[in-house]
Amino acid sequence: MAAEFPQPAASSAPPPGGSSGGGWSDRFEQGLHPAIERFNASIGFDITLLQEDLDGSIAHARMLGACGVLEPGEAERLEQGLETIRSEAAAGAFRPGIEAEDVHFAVERRLIDLLGPLGKKLHTGRSRNDQVGTDLRLWLRRRIDAIDAALLRFERALLAQAETHADTLIPGYTHLQRAQPVCLAHHLLAYIEMGERDRARLADVRRRVDICPLGAAALAGTPVPIDRRHTAATLEFASLYANSLDAVSDRDFAVEFMAAASLVMVHLSRLSEEVILWASEEFAFVALTDRCATGSSLMPQKKNPDVPELVRGKSGRVFGHLMGLLTMIKGLPLAYNKDFQEDKEAVFDGVRTCLDSLEAMAILFEEGLVFRPERLEEAVAADFSNATDVADYLVARGVPFREAYQLVGGLVKGCLREGVLLRDLPLERWQALHPDFEADIHAAIAPRQVVAARRSEGGTGFEQVLGQLALARKRLHG
Ligand code: ARG
Repeated sequence: MAAEFPQPAASSAPPPGGSSGGGWSDRFEQGLHPAIERFNASIGFDITLLQEDLDGSIAHARMLGACGVLEPGEAERLEQGLETIRSEAAAGAFRPGIEAEDVHFAVERRLIDLLGPLGKKLHTGRSRNDQVGTDLRLWLRRRIDAIDAALLRFERALLAQAETHADTLIPGYTHLQRAQPVCLAHHLLAYIEMGERDRARLADVRRRVDICPLGAAALAGTPVPIDRRHTAATLEFASLYANSLDAVSDRDFAVEFMAAASLVMVHLSRLSEEVILWASEEFAFVALTDRCATGSSLMPQKKNPDVPELVRGKSGRVFGHLMGLLTMIKGLPLAYNKDFQEDKEAVFDGVRTCLDSLEAMAILFEEGLVFRPERLEEAVAADFSNATDVADYLVARGVPFREAYQLVGGLVKGCLREGVLLRDLPLERWQALHPDFEADIHAAIAPRQVVAARRSEGGTGFEQVLGQLALARKRLHG
């Protein structure tokens, strides 16, 4: 609550309907301590839910009208009042202060200002407990759709690079040691697989976001003759919560979303790490364009990969929100507890981090980096990543794998001692090692042949990769 954190200004105006003390029901005689007023308020961040709060309130007002809870014409006037607030917000004229406490009170208070006593009827048969749950679900449902679109854009950028490099080779690593050469398209397609799993996971989470809690009221339902199906249909929810206590206490959907978003960030962060390595002088597999790289304030020669570094760094925020949500919820008795107010900043920041990171990585692959095929060719040619293929050559001629493996290991040791590569060895050397080696050994261990030979399903062989590219194109471009 330190003063250096800016907050909406404090005010003495009472919350909606209030006439005494801090503005609650007549039970209260004194106002809140100003520091506690600030501590309690969520308006500084839950104003983010304004559009969804207005949508939810309009649906609620229409339902009250349809059920005869309101007099004829009242629902329409409430809806007009709520739309007035939407226009005021669009014009920058709706700026509730700290005294409103939260977005729900801020809207209700303005509605009462605009409509007088009729505004006081809006909250009939409803509580902020089912209202806030409705708002957050509506908000998150839209953002999941936005994240899906951002994932699609990012995957399309990867696919475009993969299609350009269907014929480019890159060293494949295990333990970050050169292992076997692979097709660069194959490497990029692996990230498209991750992205498609992310989209499937988010679609699954979305089904559990898409359940309407409205009508659960504070916790137990309401004696007001409401129609929950009416509001759920207006708000296009797929279904309703079956249990009112569960409806106002369930934040599983927020946890599930954050877990899915965490995996999105894990995937982006791993790719970021690779790009950072590739852009280093040691690898030099990609060049960063000026569109996505930054300089150093001191060292004039530097070009820094800030985008992937930031994405890698930001991933931690989302994992932190996941842990924060789980910890916040784990000890809560049924039903609503004010602790839930803490879910919002986590969800808002998790969504923003995920969306921003996806957009930045999409731009990086669209126009921020250029692969360097000449460097990649050099890299795959000048190492021992074809050693397995020498062993496989003997296996194809009936030598048991383990025996071939031992022989080739000894050969590599000799080469390292002499400072030569396998491709430099004359045929006599091969035949001295094993009589089954023939003149075609040199062709068999050339990098392109090594890659082409891996024809097993899902492998890096060119035909396999072309098949995977065609499938990806169908999935991502329809
Ligand atoms: N600002 C509150 C939240 O975010 C709204 C619900 C408040 N409900 C209550 N009974 N105090 O959770």
